[in-house]
Amino acid sequence: MTAQIDAPRSQRIDPKYNRSRKSRTNFEMIAWLFMRISGVILIVLIFGHLFTNLLVGDGVHAIDWGFVAGKWASPLWQIWDLAMLWFAMLHGTNGVRTIINDYAEKDRTRFWLKGILYIVTAFIIILGTLVIFTFDPCMVTGKEYGFCPAG
Ligand code: HEM
Repeated sequence: MTAQIDAPRSQRIDPKYNRSRKSRTNFEMIAWLFMRISGVILIVLIFGHLFTNLLVGDGVHAIDWGFVAGKWASPLWQIWDLAMLWFAMLHGTNGVRTIINDYAEKDRTRFWLKGILYIVTAFIIILGTLVIFTFDPCMVTGKEYGFCPAG
């Protein structure tokens, strides 16, 4: 028995599924490309992160407040973590945006789901960026590690 599969785009698409009617830009193509490029960048960032945190030196046993303070004292790790935060959030958000577009059929449902998604994304990116650049190791318990001024 053989199955007959129609050639791509040979069928007329019901207008109710055509959600890009008003689009005059190539945003979706750029978003598609961004997923591939950010995916490759994330492999480097995530495996570099896991390697330095879990395998180098005492590995996972060395992770504590002082370890984080030590890493964020270096501009290299500040920028590394910043890039990881931004790329993972924008990649993940764009992926979920695609899933919402694919599965939520009503205009209003898509509007609200994407609205919530963008607000949560913006909140996490802004909060994470602030934490990376305003982190003060002596704020609470850093004094126990001896790298904070007395008093
Ligand atoms: C090793 C790092 C990663 C690589 C190489 C990678 C690669 C990719 C690629 C190529 C796609 C597009 C798939 C398609 O269009 O069919 C994708 C989709 C997606 N990615 Fe990633 N990704 C990585 C990390 C992440 C992370 C950290 C998150 C979450 C924050 C994430 C969330 C998603 C989501 C939600 C989708 C959409 C899934 C879908 O369309 O069905 N990915 N990823």
